[in-house]
Amino acid sequence: MQLRVTLPTEQDVGKFAAAFARVLHPGDVVALGGPVGSGKSTLVRAIVRALHGSDQSASPSFTFRHRYDGDPPIEHIDFYRIDDPRELVELGLEEALDGRSIALIEWWRNAPEAIPPRRYEIEIEGAGDEPRKLFLRASQ
Ligand SMILES: Nc1ncnc2c1ncn2[C@@H]1O[C@H](COP(=O)(O)OP(=O)(O)O)[C@@H](O)[C@H]1O
Ligand SMILES: [Mg+2]
Repeated sequence: MQLRVTLPTEQDVGKFAAAFARVLHPGDVVALGGPVGSGKSTLVRAIVRALHGSDQSASPSFTFRHRYDGDPPIEHIDFYRIDDPRELVELGLEEALDGRSIALIEWWRNAPEAIPPRRYEIEIEGAGDEPRKLFLRASQ
C-alpha cells in the first residue's frame, strides 16, 4: 500500500488523520519523517484527536515520549535527541512497543533498527508556508 496526498492546510491534516486512524490498531507502528516544521507532531495530535476525541493531554514539545491514555492507548515518541540506542531503554521504548498501544515515532531514522520492520512510514515534505506533501507506505 502506498499513497501520496497534498495537504495545503491543517484542516486537510485533520481529514487525512481521520481516514488513516481508521486503519490503525494496537501494536501498529507509524514511523514519521520530514524536516523540522513539516508537521509530524501536528499529524500525531490530529491522529490522537481522531481516535480519542481530543488531545487535552498534549505533550510539550520537549518531551520525547508521551503516552495518551485512551482506547487504544497512543504512544508519541520522538527520537530527535537519540544518538545512542542505549538511550531508548531510558525512553521506555520496549514498553511503548509492547503491542497494546499505537506507536507514532518521529525522527525514526535516528534509530531505524529499534523499531519493528512491520510498520507504516509517513514522509512529509514542505515546511513554513509551503503546501505539505505526504507519502504513506505500508511495509507489508
Ligand atoms: N498541512 C499543513 N499546512 C500548513 N501548515 C501546517 C500543516 N501541517 C502543519 N502545519 C504547521 O506547521 C508547523 C509544523 O510544526 P510541527 O507539527 O511541530 O512540525 P514537526 O513536528 O515536523 O517539527 C506548525 O506550526 C503547524 O501549525
Ligand atoms: Mg515534532
